[in-house]
Amino acid sequence: MSVTITTHPNIALIKYWGKRNEQLFLPTKSSLSVGLEALTTTTTIDISSTETDEITINGQRPSQAHTQPILDFLKITGINNRPPLAITTTNSFPTAAGLASSASGFAALALGLNHFFSLNLSPHELSALARRGSGSACRSLFGGFVVWHRGHRPDGSDSFAEQLLPASHWPTFRIIVAIVAQEPKKISSRTAMQNSVTTSPIYEKWVEASESRLDRMHRAILDKNFELVGQLAEQDCIGMHKTMHTSQPPVNFLLPATANIMQQVTDLRTKLGIPCYFTIDAGPNVKILCQEHDDAIIMEHLRKMPQIIQCIVSSIAGHPYIT
Ligand code: PMV
Repeated sequence: MSVTITTHPNIALIKYWGKRNEQLFLPTKSSLSVGLEALTTTTTIDISSTETDEITINGQRPSQAHTQPILDFLKITGINNRPPLAITTTNSFPTAAGLASSASGFAALALGLNHFFSLNLSPHELSALARRGSGSACRSLFGGFVVWHRGHRPDGSDSFAEQLLPASHWPTFRIIVAIVAQEPKKISSRTAMQNSVTTSPIYEKWVEASESRLDRMHRAILDKNFELVGQLAEQDCIGMHKTMHTSQPPVNFLLPATANIMQQVTDLRTKLGIPCYFTIDAGPNVKILCQEHDDAIIMEHLRKMPQIIQCIVSSIAGHPYIT
């Protein structure tokens, strides 16, 4: 019988950017994220009617470049003598454009394979599996506010994700996703982050500052101190992008439209007194943090920006689910 899993991409308020062990996908620092309820990845796993694994993403057979990471992931699971699988994934949002489709995708695959083959993996084991598809995928295994602990052991056994607080802790928290480009990125986050780790002169400093921000972020979330959450998220995002801009060769995911939205968010906050903050991942799209009572006015201003293709308002995601 087939298994269908629905997961959500997650947005880091405190970023993961760099590995200390590239084989095991062990991060240089801990990170903290929220899932996006309005964005979903739905993955169905079934036995293939052909003799090879068949992968379909958004109704199409993807290129070798897109299927290979999934085939590699199937090997990592170590499931022996398995039948060829038909894996069908549909994203409700642009794939590989900095909206964390790999996070929700590999989380869905890890959860789906666990269920389909009755692997009975523990939450820690599921984290270890999902993160080897894409580091941030381990954070999409849970709903609400999620932390991925860096861990210290060389074998990675203490590097895992867990829920800090459920989405119900802060039902009025909103994330507006402003899409300015839908094309897949030119450089993978995997390559770009190791470039920062190995060549940016400010990388170590960012890691240190970001680790200390994570503790303050946790407290600010517990206190529902929105301004502090927003300030810390912006600082962390800006710091991460600075490590890219100062790496060799420099990496820049931001477009002029991205910078315009960052400025608009700052203006809404400083000139109109609307509490809103931005965060951006490895792509040009912007996520705006705000609260429910302000989302309509912020959307009104964003709609006036012709560079924005689409805006999606989301609350914090609940747990992934199996149908
Ligand atoms: O999980 P990856 O390899 O796609 O890297 C994600 C990196 C960022 O999205 C930029 C930050 C994060 O913590 O999600």
